Amino acid sequence: MDKSAAWYRRLDRLFDRAWVFNAYQTLADGGKTRQIRRFLADVPYASVVDVGCGTGNWASLARGRYVGVDTSPSFIAACRERFADDPDKSFVQADATTLTPTQPFDLALLISVLHHLSDDDVRQLLRWVAEHAHYFFVLDLYPIPWHPIARVLYALDRGHYIRSPEAQRALIAEEPRLQMVKQSSYFAPSSLYRHTLFLYESTAWRGAEAGEQHVEEGSRA
Ligand SMILES: C[S@@+](CC[C@H](N)C(=O)[O-])C[C@H]1O[C@@H](n2cnc3c(N)ncnc32)[C@H](O)[C@@H]1O
Repeated sequence: MDKSAAWYRRLDRLFDRAWVFNAYQTLADGGKTRQIRRFLADVPYASVVDVGCGTGNWASLARGRYVGVDTSPSFIAACRERFADDPDKSFVQADATTLTPTQPFDLALLISVLHHLSDDDVRQLLRWVAEHAHYFFVLDLYPIPWHPIARVLYALDRGHYIRSPEAQRALIAEEPRLQMVKQSSYFAPSSLYRHTLFLYESTAWRGAEAGEQHVEEGSRA
């Protein structure tokens, strides 16, 4: 599929609108919240960095301080408006692969973002995640090759790097400081998607000792 074609760029812009993105998520991705909550139920955390936070749907997982990071100006604007009354939640428009957060987080989320990142982008991201987050949660597509509608959706997807669960796992395993805690997968009720969930713990995490500085807009490695 030619993702540089004019019609695809129009579709891409359409999905950059918060309400279109949210409507699609609700229709195609039902059950995700329940699966994620169940998977993270026994993970101890009080602060979250949400990498590729989109429209802020996973801010609901926050227990205390929450920072959402996304490249999309329209999504970050929608998040800031949505959570304007919540001082515990902040949003940064930045490329998460080149971020230099120096504030520690108990949990880093990467939900449906891995397939938007090239292998090199993922390696860069993993470096700072291993240093600045205690736990790292990753959820991404589990491609279903035999499903005709799912195949069309993958082809249209804005992410260019859809990987098998084995390839996702192998890529993350390149960062030796991230140790796998558990892995699971589930079918969305629509049957259009299967997702893989991974939880990692960083052996390099130093908690509050990691520094007093903060994630800042536009910060780069
Ligand atoms: C499929 S959406 C998922 C959004 C959100 N995590 C969710 O599950 O609702 C992928 C998001 O990743 C963001 N994204 C892609 N590449 C990124 C990068 N390098 N840095 C930060 N955000 C990125 C996109 O702008 C988009 O909001």
